[in-house]
Amino acid sequence: MLIQIPNVLTQDEVEFVLRELDQGAYEDGKVSAGEVAGQVKKNLQLKRDAEAIKKCAPVMLEALKRNGIFQAAALPLKIREPMVNRYDIGMNYGLHVDNALMGEPATIRSDVSATLFLSSPQAYDGGELVIQEISTQRRIKLPAGSMVVYASTNSHRVEPVTRGTRLAGIFWIQSMVRDESRRDILFDLNQILDSVSKKIDAAEKMALTSIYHNLLRQWCET
Ligand code: NI
Repeated sequence: MLIQIPNVLTQDEVEFVLRELDQGAYEDGKVSAGEVAGQVKKNLQLKRDAEAIKKCAPVMLEALKRNGIFQAAALPLKIREPMVNRYDIGMNYGLHVDNALMGEPATIRSDVSATLFLSSPQAYDGGELVIQEISTQRRIKLPAGSMVVYASTNSHRVEPVTRGTRLAGIFWIQSMVRDESRRDILFDLNQILDSVSKKIDAAEKMALTSIYHNLLRQWCET
């Protein structure tokens, strides 16, 4: 699963978040990384108790709540309060896999990871998120307010920033459906249902919808 979702934040929300983050208090990103990931992590992150995160996190979380594609793709049970990462010139994050458990004490299993791009792509060079799938690499650099959602089992890295500053919100989600292939099937079915629902009659729609819900019932944990 690798899904790009445009306009998760509105333009006004992007501007609000960037204004707040401009005055935020940042610390070395290594403090939140595990031992292995910490060796390749070279970035800054907004302090968890910073004033700016208290103002921005609710805006970003609300945006996820109202986004139907995100909800259908991630089927979230729990979403960790977002982290904001900042890469200035020369910073990068080498290839790593995110920790399976998040929080101290651990309260969330990371099934799904999401990066919400906050800086405009014109504001910096480099800084692509590179997601390693089995035999391919996907290089992702999205407009401000857009998001990429992918399975936390994928290793990934952030390329060095060579100009400007790259800010992004990072989310970890424990899904109601732990298995990635099952989440993919449910997402595909959900999207097809969406696209054909105006072309089929009520009985067909009901039949397809019931298949979706019966699969969800089989695979969901709450
Ligand atoms: Ni990561």
